Amino acid sequence: MLKSTYLNKKVLVTGHTGFKGSWLCVWLQLMGAKVKGYALEAENPSLYKLIAKDLEIESYIGDIRNRELFKQEILNFEPDFIFHLAAQPLVIASYEQPVETFETNVMGTAHLLNAVRFLEKPCTVVCITTDKVYENNEWIYPYRETDHLGGHDPYSSSKAACEIVIQSYRRSFFNPEHYNNHKKGIASARAGNVIGGGDFAENRIVPDLIKALENNQPLQVRNPQAVRPWQHVLEPLSGYLLLGQKLYNNPTEFAQAYNFGPWPQDTMPVESLVKLLIQSWGSGDYHTPENKNKLHEAGLLELDISKAVNQLNWQPKLNISETVNMITTWAKNYTNQNPFDLCREQVEGYVNI
Ligand SMILES: NC(=O)c1ccc[n+]([C@@H]2O[C@H](COP(=O)([O-])OP(=O)(O)OC[C@H]3O[C@@H](n4cnc5c(N)ncnc54)[C@H](O)[C@@H]3O)[C@@H](O)[C@H]2O)c1
Repeated sequence: MLKSTYLNKKVLVTGHTGFKGSWLCVWLQLMGAKVKGYALEAENPSLYKLIAKDLEIESYIGDIRNRELFKQEILNFEPDFIFHLAAQPLVIASYEQPVETFETNVMGTAHLLNAVRFLEKPCTVVCITTDKVYENNEWIYPYRETDHLGGHDPYSSSKAACEIVIQSYRRSFFNPEHYNNHKKGIASARAGNVIGGGDFAENRIVPDLIKALENNQPLQVRNPQAVRPWQHVLEPLSGYLLLGQKLYNNPTEFAQAYNFGPWPQDTMPVESLVKLLIQSWGSGDYHTPENKNKLHEAGLLELDISKAVNQLNWQPKLNISETVNMITTWAKNYTNQNPFDLCREQVEGYVNI
């Protein structure tokens, strides 16, 4: 169903060298899209470096803070679709580099949307923000798209600010009421805590645990009781692609913000996820040391996905056990099997559920 939309379309993926961007490029390639990526050099190790030789995409290494360069690359490519994933996406890094986080996340998004103003063709833009855009009141209620934006740490608040930038550009320059004048559809996607094979980022629970399991070391779990909406990376990507498709077919109706998260029963504490991963791996151990100097991180975060379920007809396909098994399968096999083939198998398996 998605393939009919993306086959032979020009798709710009910002952040293609990152974890989610790499998976998205694999999926788009399998659907026959013509993909260009714009991002910083890939980290080492990274999924991108593992699969780069099999990725048939045009990769441009550039900074989204460089307004003119970014604009030129967007205008030269003339994309039909843009998925904007490039960001500084880590909470702890945002405490260490708050200004850089705001520059990349907020101004990077403004640079992108401003460049789209000069694109002389229809374009569908899906901007990726996060579940952390909501003012977190530690409520037991899941957050809806109409709840207040906010954010304590610089990462969360920078992404909330992105949502305000997106709303402003949509109202001022890409207003759905005047679609025929500009021919641009702009939506934003707020996903939960994304996990999957090929994530090597530091200070994220799954990469940290996989590293500890590979080295037969016990893991130090920072916030065992923090509750998060965990989801396999292919779940939000299916949401982004579906939102892109709906927006392409009906650019006025779907130019909005959508949450993409798991079913409520798969929102669980960090410690429960760690236990499931250790069980799926077959061995391993963890500690929960007391840390009096820890940085503030939200304790309870749940997403309400009714809007995506009802308006887009999207729903999560995997339960948490299936997600965990896909991660351990990936982590146990990527050194002895072609990592691109592993990703392809998991995408094809997911599509066929
Ligand atoms: N991983 C998650 O749990 C999660 C959850 C919700 C939302 N998100 C969002 O999804 C997107 C992708 O996250 P990820 O986990 O793949 O992160 P990642 O760190 O793996 O990838 C980030 C990408 O952004 C690029 N980038 C960073 N700064 C840049 C700059 N100044 N100029 C150009 N490119 C730059 C990097 O090169 C990389 O390609 C981000 O917008 C993130 O906020 C992630």
